[in-house]
Amino acid sequence: MTDRYTQAVNSGFTQTLAKKLGLPRPAILRRFRAGEPLTVGPVLLVSDDASKGDADAVAQALLGWDLDVRRQPADDVRWGAVILVLTEASAPTDVAAPVLAAGSVLRQLAGNGRVVTVSRAPADGDSPAVAATRNGVDGFLRSLAKELRGGATGNGVMLTGGAAVDAGPTLAALRFFLSAKSAYVDGQLLRVGPGGSADAADLTTDRPLAGKVAVVTGAARGIGAAIATTLARDGATVVCVDVPAAGEGLSRTANAVGGTALQLDVTAEDAGTRILAHARERHGGLDVVVHNAGILRDKLLANMRPAQWESVVAVNLAAQLRINETLLAAGLEGLHIVSLASTSGIAGNKGQSNYAFSKAGVIGHTRATAALLAARGGTANAVAPGFIETDMTSSIPFATREVARRLPTLAQGGKPVDVAEAVAFLASPAAAGVNGQVLRVCGQHMVGQ
Ligand code: NAI
Repeated sequence: MTDRYTQAVNSGFTQTLAKKLGLPRPAILRRFRAGEPLTVGPVLLVSDDASKGDADAVAQALLGWDLDVRRQPADDVRWGAVILVLTEASAPTDVAAPVLAAGSVLRQLAGNGRVVTVSRAPADGDSPAVAATRNGVDGFLRSLAKELRGGATGNGVMLTGGAAVDAGPTLAALRFFLSAKSAYVDGQLLRVGPGGSADAADLTTDRPLAGKVAVVTGAARGIGAAIATTLARDGATVVCVDVPAAGEGLSRTANAVGGTALQLDVTAEDAGTRILAHARERHGGLDVVVHNAGILRDKLLANMRPAQWESVVAVNLAAQLRINETLLAAGLEGLHIVSLASTSGIAGNKGQSNYAFSKAGVIGHTRATAALLAARGGTANAVAPGFIETDMTSSIPFATREVARRLPTLAQGGKPVDVAEAVAFLASPAAAGVNGQVLRVCGQHMVGQ
């Protein structure tokens, strides 16, 4: 589906007209293309005094990625990114200097630039001052992200469990936020723990999923097809699952990614067993499962028929639970599960009580499953898309669709590939310290946190 407004305000006569009329001008977002630089210009790295050692460690990693890292603000630079390292800040007054230094260059932040905070999440036992400072970063980052223009985004890495600032998962998250792969992720703070043992090469490889077998449900079209394509780009062998009625699209995706097709309704009793058997028999194992299949049956609860409630819960939630039970019982090592939630499941949405129940349920089971998988070196995470341009959203009435597109800070809908990039990041071995988390891909939609 095409967003003609965004195209029009970025080209030719209509661009000039939109400028003159002061109309909102959503930017053309820079998306990942192999071989292009990680950031669109030099990186300014600032920190509070106590976090200077951590900032030095981050600088070392960035230099290893061939980035042009500077430690002092300057007016004559078109900055590609600003990173604020605030890991050791322990009093509210500590953050003023780095935050204001970052602010001093924001007018020179390039289009599609990045601001990323690296800080520690509040934890049990923190003193009130430490907890205040750490939580303060959350409000700061979310507000700053709303002030950025031209496709620039603001996101944060929040360390938990004593994770080191230069540990693999920390740097993997930082790299994702700096890169064009996070084009439609905005205003998000991702909690990253110390899990996994990624080394420097794992972070920069083009094929982090080489040798891995991934299953994607609902792969015939839309977001699922994009996820299959992106996981295959990253080296995975992909098993594409969809209902027999979507067989044509399913074969198309499976052929395009050089994977195999499995026609299967995920609500079938034996879906987990069939997925596992197919992955093992055809490809020798199973490393990644992406629960993407989902349906909408929107109705106000007062008008909702039993079938509308039950089918949504069956496909979007109960099927995932049942398949996960089978996979957990099989005791797979290092299994990464990524499930599709939705911002509706976080903030609620009128007419979607069934869908929001199912998607909030996905977030609930993801948190519970994370602990079970961690014992075997696996992870369970959820991705919550906002408004993504697909067949599913093209069925939304025009006026509602147009409002949904313009509400986020980025003032446009996302593309299926934006969700796929987030899924691929969470499925990658380097992200092993991200477990039980929900990553929103919503352009900082105003609904929810
Ligand atoms: P879509 O409707 O374009 O594609 C969904 C796919 O799932 C279809 O190929 C369909 O055949 C398949 N599917 C449905 N029921 C199935 C079943 N029982 N067994 C196997 N496959 C089944 O949807 P879209 O937009 O690509 O969404 C994908 C996921 O992302 C869904 O879970 C959806 O809830 C979620 N999402 C989408 C958003 C959007 O804006 N498009 C926003 C938030 C979440």
